Amino acid sequence: MRVLILGANGFIGSHLSEAILTKTSWHIDAMDLTQDKLDTCLGHERFHFKSGDITKERDWIAEHIQACDVVLPLVAIANPSVYVQYPLRVFELDFEANLAIIRQCVALKKRIIFPSTSEVYGMCPDVAFDEEESCLVTGPIHKERWIYSASKQLLDRVIYAYGKHHELNYTLFRPFNWYGPKLDNIFNPKQGGSRVLTQFIGNILRGEDIMLVNGGSQQRCFAYIDDGVDALLKMIENKNNAASQRIFNVGNPTENVSIRALAEMLIDFIKTYPEYSDAASKTKLIEVNAEQYYGSGYQDVLLRVPAIKRAKEYLAWGPKVSLAEGLKKTLDYYLNPEQLTLSSITES
Ligand code: UGA
Repeated sequence: MRVLILGANGFIGSHLSEAILTKTSWHIDAMDLTQDKLDTCLGHERFHFKSGDITKERDWIAEHIQACDVVLPLVAIANPSVYVQYPLRVFELDFEANLAIIRQCVALKKRIIFPSTSEVYGMCPDVAFDEEESCLVTGPIHKERWIYSASKQLLDRVIYAYGKHHELNYTLFRPFNWYGPKLDNIFNPKQGGSRVLTQFIGNILRGEDIMLVNGGSQQRCFAYIDDGVDALLKMIENKNNAASQRIFNVGNPTENVSIRALAEMLIDFIKTYPEYSDAASKTKLIEVNAEQYYGSGYQDVLLRVPAIKRAKEYLAWGPKVSLAEGLKKTLDYYLNPEQLTLSSITES
């Protein structure tokens, strides 16, 4: 099997690449602008890396789509503060650049495994979001946060239509707040500069207070990256075509916590690392309103729980890592002195 991963140096791409090399005999062709998260893959005989920009390297991409068995286009902006500040960048990269790749897969009759998102459900009132039943509910146009959700939703619909009318062999997966080592750089000091978990770890280590947007009662189900990657391996393997022409939520419905509870857990956990215990003890939780924190284009999701029965039924997949266990592994990575030095150098 030959797998093409575009955006291999991202959070999901880097973990997936490592898992493929250690758990399977598959070959990977990979492209990314940067390679700092790929230290365990670079130099491996089954990892063929090209440094480059997917919006420019059209010939390389066409040639490698042709040569591979399955394509995973993982390049996207996935940070809510960017949706609000630079909505057109989100549209151009997440939507336009990926549409071109999807069309090449259709033309070359290649299987595609494409990242949809939990964000497509938006403010859906269902207690658990179902891939085939739930309505997708976003806000008014001036709430620019939804440009990511809308871009991804339209791509889902385009991919579905190519599947139905042009026999595109696709799988759409929807990560629900995956987290773990290599998520975002914790030395990104901008408010909202990274996703919530890495934002809070960075706040604590920098001696800043934690900002709870609208009080922090909104909830998220957090899924550890290894669980997400296991689901992806099953989709790539595609035993009995079980993943073909299907959409899968991939998340951990039992680990549903409020953002305030997440902050409290992190403070308690970081207190157990002697070097950072002081910083954690001094961290205060401050309530801020969403407009102050993100700007007027923001709107939040209050409850986001995945129904995972389809992933269970078709992929025999379920999450295994508890939030406590996953947070510990994530903190062991981020609080490792070597990693702290590397991250601060990369950021500066
Ligand atoms: C995320 C991102 O859109 C994507 O990474 C992804 O597609 C999707 O959800 C997913 O992973 O399922 P969201 O969960 O809203 O969206 O993003 P975070 O930035 O991680 O924020 C989570 C919650 O924490 C939000 O309610 C936000 O307002 C809150 N928050 C964030 C704070 O209270 N304080 C902060 O400093 C940062």
